[in-house]
Amino acid sequence: MELFEQMIQHTSVRNFLTKEIPEAVKEKLVTAAKSPSSSHFIQAYSLIEVKDPEKLVAIENISNARGYTDTGAYYVFVADLNKHAQVLNQAKQDLTPLRTVESLVVAIVDATIAAQTMATYAESIDLGICYIGGLRNDLFRIKELLNLPELTYPIFGLTVGYPAKKNEVKPRIPLAGTLNIDSYQKLTPETLTKYDEIMASYYANRSSNQQNGNWSDTILQHFHQILRPDTSEFLKEQGFRL
Ligand SMILES: Cc1cc2nc3c(=O)[nH]c(=O)nc-3n(C[C@H](O)[C@H](O)[C@H](O)COP(=O)(O)O)c2cc1C
Repeated sequence: MELFEQMIQHTSVRNFLTKEIPEAVKEKLVTAAKSPSSSHFIQAYSLIEVKDPEKLVAIENISNARGYTDTGAYYVFVADLNKHAQVLNQAKQDLTPLRTVESLVVAIVDATIAAQTMATYAESIDLGICYIGGLRNDLFRIKELLNLPELTYPIFGLTVGYPAKKNEVKPRIPLAGTLNIDSYQKLTPETLTKYDEIMASYYANRSSNQQNGNWSDTILQHFHQILRPDTSEFLKEQGFRL
C-alpha cells in the first residue's frame, strides 16, 4: 500500500497476537526513531525498551492499559536533557539553560517526533502501535522503576506488535477546522456541528465499544477535571525550573 494510504488508515491497536518481533525488525524500529529532524541537533530523547515482565505489569497497572504490552515491544520515550548535563558538567558549564521550559519543550518535541517516526515505520510494515500516555498517571513510580535521573521526563510508552484486531479509522476534524490560510481562524459552530454529527455516527456504529455521544461530549468529559496535577511537582523534582 502507498505510504499515504497507510497513514490515513492509522488506528491505535490494543489487541496484539502473541508473536515476538524479530530483533532485526526492532533494530530498524529504533533506527527509524532516531533518524528524524532534531531541534538544533540536540537529540534530546532516550528510549527505554521495557522487557522485564514485572516492570511491564507495573507499568500496565499505572497506565490502566492492561493487555497492551502482552507481546511485541514496549518503548518508553523519555524527554532527556541529562546527556546534555553530562556534556556541560564535564566542561564545568552552568546547567541553568537546560532547566528552562523552552529546553523542556524542545526535548518533548524531539522525543515525540522520534516516536511518531517509529510509529509510521511500524505501521508501514503492518505492525500496530498504541501510545500510552497513561504512563504519566504516576510519574514518581515510573521514575523509580526506570531509574530516571535529573533532567529526564517520561512522556509516554509506545507499544508495538502484530495486530490481533484493528479498529475502524476514527474520523478526524474536517480540513476546514484544521487548515488555516494566512491567519488563525477559530473553529466555526458549523464545522463543529458537522464534526459532532460525524463522530456521533462513528461512535454509534463502530464494531466495538459502541456509545452515544459526539466529539464535544468527549472533550467536555476529558476537561471536566484537572488531569495529573502532580506533573509540575515532578518536573521540578527533575530539575526543571517552571
Ligand atoms: C500521546 C498519546 C498518548 C496516548 N495515551 C493512550 C493511553 O494511555 N491509552 C490508550 O488506550 N490510548 C492512548 N492513546 C491513543 C489515543 O487514544 C488515540 O490515538 C486516539 O483515540 C485516536 O484513535 P486512533 O489512534 O485509533 O486513531 C494515546 C495517544 C497519544 C498520541
